[in-house]
Amino acid sequence: MCRCERLGASLLGQRTRGGNTLKIAVVGSGYVGLVAAACFAEIGHDVISIDNDAQKILLLQQGHVPIHEEHLPELLERHSGKKLKFSTDLEEAVRQSSAIFIAVGTPSTEDGDADLSYVESVSRAVAAAINDYKIVVEKSTVPVFTSHWVRKVMLLDGAPADLFDVASNPEFLREGTAVVDFLYPDRIVTGGDTTRCSDLLREIYRPLTDGSYYKRTDRVAIVAPANWPGAARLIGTSTKSAEIIKHASNAFLATKISFINAVSNICESVGADVKEVCEGIGSDSRIGNRFLNPGIGYGGSCFPKDLKAFRHVARENGYEFSLLSSVIAINEEQRARFLRKVRTALWTLKGKKLAVLGLAFKGGTDDIRESPAIEIVKSLLKEGCEIRAYDPAAMERSREVLPSRGISYHDSPYAAASGADALLILTDWNDFADLDLANLRSELSYPIIVDGRNLYQPSSMSNAGFLYYSVGRPDAQPKQQIERPVKMAAASSGKAV
Ligand code: UGA
Repeated sequence: MCRCERLGASLLGQRTRGGNTLKIAVVGSGYVGLVAAACFAEIGHDVISIDNDAQKILLLQQGHVPIHEEHLPELLERHSGKKLKFSTDLEEAVRQSSAIFIAVGTPSTEDGDADLSYVESVSRAVAAAINDYKIVVEKSTVPVFTSHWVRKVMLLDGAPADLFDVASNPEFLREGTAVVDFLYPDRIVTGGDTTRCSDLLREIYRPLTDGSYYKRTDRVAIVAPANWPGAARLIGTSTKSAEIIKHASNAFLATKISFINAVSNICESVGADVKEVCEGIGSDSRIGNRFLNPGIGYGGSCFPKDLKAFRHVARENGYEFSLLSSVIAINEEQRARFLRKVRTALWTLKGKKLAVLGLAFKGGTDDIRESPAIEIVKSLLKEGCEIRAYDPAAMERSREVLPSRGISYHDSPYAAASGADALLILTDWNDFADLDLANLRSELSYPIIVDGRNLYQPSSMSNAGFLYYSVGRPDAQPKQQIERPVKMAAASSGKAV
């Protein structure tokens, strides 16, 4: 019997270019769930995206795109109402689907453990609705042993053991480039403990692994990453290994960032340039030059939470992962160092007007969860600074979490800079690396820039007349003597400004 026959005819729909059309339910329509649902539809499957937030589902049905994610609007427009449906009815979706992906939130508990209560309640609902063989796939980031627990609660809730398998299929999507990451992955990891389960997972991703998706003329016009091999690589593992792969990948990337932040601190102490150091170490192919950008520390909905969860699961299983404690400590210290840098640039902070460029946790997203920029703004407000903020996408969300007093929001970097005593760069938006420096200089009261993302060369800032402070590189002084602040000069000459 061939593999496909073993899957059972009921699981496989009609044959399409590049594979079988499968019926898939994706539970949770947040960043991960919505992107996965749209991309599964894009590679040919019939998908139901489920959420218990009726308002969210209604908006999705009406064509609203709830998150800022490149290419997602295009995919939703193409597939909504056709290969991609939105619903709040989990049980019906389970009955109709052969694979149920769980992509609900797994927030941190107080002690750093992952709160798996949403995963548990979805597992119970799936158990209640199961009518024929299905795979239940963890897509959310979960600690090792979660698949074991999902299986256990489903059995306790009466799901027949032969009617389901639990798998782990971690995602490696970055916010802002999630669609490209899904369709052109470095690797796809599928963890399953039975052949029928692993086969079904492989079938789902076949259009990517056999390369047929990339030959389609109607595929989304995405520029493939450099060195793209032409087909995605699938790594099949046990469920436990797949669960560990997800946590270990994020922990390693965060370790790389904290490592280079620590190196940048030594560079500052001795007067070396971390950019040169990065080039020197990153060109060793064993190290690589990606994820070696020093700054104000990592943030976002994944790294901070996942590191704590991985450390917690290690501790519970008898291993003290002290390396991760150091990674977390260095990351927190990096924000404090940036604040000290602002003080060094401005002396006292109370009453200072500061232009802030960037509130999102990184460029290309409106997400402010665990954003180092937001934490820095909060600290500056506490010190009595007046903040003039600009972010291309994250201002609406920031308004919800930042105090309303002491902060104003502006519609361009130049408007934010107007009359400010200094400008702080807190997020690596591409737009911020390409500012009109003369214009910026004329808006600021004092030509001071503290760049937490190293977006400029100190020499070009010096030529443009700025006092420029960055991370891990020597401070730059303006080439020419600083002119009197525009407003003071005008006041002494009696001119109104
Ligand atoms: C991260 C991982 O990169 C994804 O592979 C993973 O799927 C995802 O978490 C997840 O677990 O869901 P993401 O949080 O979107 O993706 O953002 P990254 O691009 O990884 O950046 C994370 C943080 O590190 C940001 O605050 C960023 O500014 C910071 N960072 C990144 C640095 O400070 N330096 C760098 O060199 C790179």
